[in-house]
Amino acid sequence: MKRSILITTSAAVALLLAAGPTFVAAGPGHDHTGVRQRFENFGPDVRHREYVAPSLLRDSAPFTAPLNANPVQIAVHFAQTSLTDSEFVIRNAYTSDHNGVTHVYLRQIVDGVEVTNADININVDRFGRIVSYGDSFYKGKEYTLRANARVNEQDESSVMEIVEGISNKVGQFVFGTQWSGLKKRSPRKRGTTDSTVYSIANPSSTVISPIDALQSLADHIKVVLPDVASISILESSIPITTASSFQHSQPVMTLNNVPFALSPVPVRQAYLQLDNGELQLVWDLQVEMQDNWFHAHVNAHTGEVIALMDWVADATAYRVFPFGLNDPSDGERQLVVDPHDTIASRNGWVNYGPNDDDKRMGKKTKGYNTTIGNNVYAHENLQGGSQWEDNHRPLGKHEEDPVSGLVFDFRLNWHKQEPEDYVDGSVVNLFYWNNIIHDLFYRYGFDEQSGNFQEDNFGLGGLGQDAVVANAQDGSGYNNANFATPPDGQRGKMRMYVWDATTPMRDGDLESGIIIHEYAHGISTRLTGGPANSGCLGWGEAGGMGEGWGDFFATALRTKVNDTRESDYDMGSWANGGEGIRKYPYTTSLKKNPETYGIMSKPGYYGVHAKGAVWAEMLYEVYWNLVDKHGYTKQWFPPTDEDDEFAERPRKGPKKPSHPDSPATRHILSYGNTLTLQLVVDGLKLQPCRPDFTDARDAILQADELLTNGDNACEIWKAFAKRGLGVGAKLEGGSPWGGGERTESSHVPKECQ
Ligand SMILES: *[C@@H]1O[C@H](CO)[C@@H](O)[C@H](O)[C@H]1NC(C)=O
Ligand SMILES: *[C@@H]1O[C@H](CO)[C@@H](O)[C@H](O)[C@H]1NC(C)=O
Repeated sequence: MKRSILITTSAAVALLLAAGPTFVAAGPGHDHTGVRQRFENFGPDVRHREYVAPSLLRDSAPFTAPLNANPVQIAVHFAQTSLTDSEFVIRNAYTSDHNGVTHVYLRQIVDGVEVTNADININVDRFGRIVSYGDSFYKGKEYTLRANARVNEQDESSVMEIVEGISNKVGQFVFGTQWSGLKKRSPRKRGTTDSTVYSIANPSSTVISPIDALQSLADHIKVVLPDVASISILESSIPITTASSFQHSQPVMTLNNVPFALSPVPVRQAYLQLDNGELQLVWDLQVEMQDNWFHAHVNAHTGEVIALMDWVADATAYRVFPFGLNDPSDGERQLVVDPHDTIASRNGWVNYGPNDDDKRMGKKTKGYNTTIGNNVYAHENLQGGSQWEDNHRPLGKHEEDPVSGLVFDFRLNWHKQEPEDYVDGSVVNLFYWNNIIHDLFYRYGFDEQSGNFQEDNFGLGGLGQDAVVANAQDGSGYNNANFATPPDGQRGKMRMYVWDATTPMRDGDLESGIIIHEYAHGISTRLTGGPANSGCLGWGEAGGMGEGWGDFFATALRTKVNDTRESDYDMGSWANGGEGIRKYPYTTSLKKNPETYGIMSKPGYYGVHAKGAVWAEMLYEVYWNLVDKHGYTKQWFPPTDEDDEFAERPRKGPKKPSHPDSPATRHILSYGNTLTLQLVVDGLKLQPCRPDFTDARDAILQADELLTNGDNACEIWKAFAKRGLGVGAKLEGGSPWGGGERTESSHVPKECQ
């Protein structure tokens, strides 16, 4: 069920525009040639925004809201008493059926107009508890300047201060009485502007006409606006809200007959928060053109374009063995167009923006046309040296067909050629796979704040400047691959080798299972024990599982829609000339793979890879128990929820990040394969540093308890018990390298018998 209510502003809405259109001569721009021009997206950065998302389930007793409490009212009350004394509209509010969480989205109103970069979102659970909120409302010049200064400071103590400040606040409002812990603000009188709080830039200057604003935009994007006389302005009335739809709080104008626009141009006045702490009155225009679709904010006094977003992004195409294929024996390469996930990689894979430091130093956006991006630098390293910055990378070609944009399409004949002869194709495949894994695991929670690998973290937490450095055909070894994971903020390094079991040799860069396995080291290391701790999966059972997660991810992600629990998979067998690189295949058959917990006490199981195979085998059992119970989806990537904030945008555009209880989570929970992946990732975050097998098993069980109320506990227990890691399993006299006596157990809890 979806609920929605609207709070309208009490003050009458006054248009700030004084005069009618003024006529401006055409600017000195160029003719529009039909070739798409690219302009950098830019705008002020709201650095004081915060997102407060505590762990809800830490022994807090469910708070029961008073009878008749409406979650939207609860959210509004919370916002008014604890977050802001400003006016706002509810832009959207809806309740997710599957978990009862209500998501409420607020937009700030100052002097009757929206502040277009000031949003609050509040999530209320079915007990009426505020479980998290985000807040980028404008709070005055001083507040903004302090926040900017704070973000600029890099020393650890200030970071700690921020962290402590946030967690104190969280503790207060979640674990105390609902909102008594936060400072109450004395309410401001509505419809007034308190100049000590709100600094409006040049409040008394003349406001230019919307046609002047359009002219400025035209100059900026270098199109000629020949005849403004033909443009007419239509004022439309306030649209009335229907359930959960977008709501304007003020009149909207439409410019008709704009020569270079495909459709009438909606214009309205708004405020924009600036980095200098002032509110700037702007004209907010949306201009649809043949090859661009601009959303612009133009200073309403000076005509300067101060924020610009092009909703159209160029396509990028890659010829690769795409997601779903494990290696060349699985299928042909395909040209995939724009495979990036719009939440995980908001700027695409090769549109690499400035990182936070660059931005601070005023550096411009860099654009690349090669295998460099926000998530990975991929290149050959035939020499096997430690230099990588200037190693050879293939250049994408700018093409009109078959896709308009950048195309990475290189010959690759692995049957006949030696790997060196198709290194460009290999680099592209390696680039693609590092990116797709980044994006996939991002959607399952390996994101900025949990320590993922990105150059720019977009202000979303964690440390940036740590895209993966991926060496294709690294000359430093054969028949292997490796991944080094330093703490968050330092680049992970992947080295992929050529395999010499066959003639011609085979390139590990073409076997996605190996790439997934290697990247998984980065995931498990960063998620276990926190992003700053890379020392949790070193040796023994912990180190063994560090290998096992990679094998498991690689195996799960290659399963096919018609697989059954009888389907078996060998790890690494294509590169290795047809023979798997582990002792046994991954299978649910105890005959084909007899490994159980106790086997690790035997000789031959001291190494991490042998132990890892036992762990991966256990996870494979969990996987099939959950797939049998919940079914399978080919769609590993959960849907993006374009259903609220940007619902009115008709095509490519920025997407809102999914919040915890989104359609994405609903999708993940609905299928056994996606659910297993989620539980395993969640388990990584929950388990302690240097976990042993029983710890990691318990963390997965707890992940299920947190996500589904323990709906799958018995399926998970049965899977582990089948492989000897049941209720009574224990390790005694364990040595650091993983020796010791293991007692197997095939027992499951009473309620599962
Ligand atoms: C793209 O590639 C061409 C060479 O084909 C090069 O001249 C150009 O500078 C590159 N552009 C960028 C942004 O790196
Ligand atoms: C899966 O099985 C169904 C029913 O037997 C069949 O129609 C379909 O083509 C199969 N799909 C694949 C990808 O093999």
